[in-house]
Amino acid sequence: MADPHAFPGVFPTTRLRRNRQHAWLRRAVAETVLTPADLIWPLFVHDHEASAPVASMPGVNRLSIEGIVQAVCEAKQLGIPAVALFPVVEQSHKSLDARHALDADNLICRTVRAIQKNCGDSVGIICDVALDPYTSHGHDGLLQAGRILNDETVEMLAQQACLLAAAGCHIVAPSDMMDGRVGAIRRALDSAGWQDTSILSYAAKYASAFYGPFRDALGSSLALGTADKKTYQMDCANRDEALREVALDLAEGADMVLVKPAIVSLDIIQRVKQTFGVPTFAYQVSGEYASIRAAADNGWIDGQAAALESLTAIKRAGADAILTYFAAGIAGHLMARP
Ligand code: PBG
Repeated sequence: MADPHAFPGVFPTTRLRRNRQHAWLRRAVAETVLTPADLIWPLFVHDHEASAPVASMPGVNRLSIEGIVQAVCEAKQLGIPAVALFPVVEQSHKSLDARHALDADNLICRTVRAIQKNCGDSVGIICDVALDPYTSHGHDGLLQAGRILNDETVEMLAQQACLLAAAGCHIVAPSDMMDGRVGAIRRALDSAGWQDTSILSYAAKYASAFYGPFRDALGSSLALGTADKKTYQMDCANRDEALREVALDLAEGADMVLVKPAIVSLDIIQRVKQTFGVPTFAYQVSGEYASIRAAADNGWIDGQAAALESLTAIKRAGADAILTYFAAGIAGHLMARP
């Protein structure tokens, strides 16, 4: 029999299981370590005193402005660096031209001001820039004769971004996927004196079935009906196109780029991070959260372990920060960890 030690570096000289023997050793050699600082907490705000559960997202509630302020305090205690806010807009404020998006006293602006008043700059405030909460048809852009009007929408988005910056939002996050919006938003912010407001661009956002529960939370799924967003959100078949989207958004002035959904786009997250080396965020979206929660609530999987595993995998792929509805629960768990 050949001398096994003639091949140093292979079995039995090398036994990779040796490094997996103890919990402390696994911790010491872990290549990816998830921390609360990696997590961004998406929150839904509505114009009611009582909080209301989102049926398709167990554990997630639409909160009052006061509830949001409390959640932001909680985020601070948990070491979560930022929250991402989404308003549930009353039906009476939805219209064809989404004009309520530009009302300085709308729900999202009031919410941002309340957070600023109570929490200042201690937790980052990220606001979505898109028209879907405000359109009667549920699309992210203006619709005319069945077509989404790109340039007219971009003009409104730039104004919406300035309004959010004026309210005290730190990061505006265009999630609409119109062409040219990042540049238009940057120019508008700069000329209004908001040079320090950052842009997190949803650069590679795929048209996804995993947004379903989010649209329920916002009440935009009814409005959207059987329509889809495939003329502006990306086709999940495409990879090179994601890199072109990111390149353009960076050229237009994006400070950070985002890929979503996360779990079904790990390859995209990795390529974006490797290609551009810029702050790359990922969004573990509502349907990804709901899938894990539903299985866990049925006793089919360990929900906490599945959440941790999925978030660690997203970070391993290259994400610098992850928007996730698990943020508070997982941050609490991570803080209590040995
Ligand atoms: C809308 C927006 C969506 C999400 C974030 N911003 C939904 C959509 O594009 O239809 C999805 C987030 C989630 O599913 O958790 N501009």
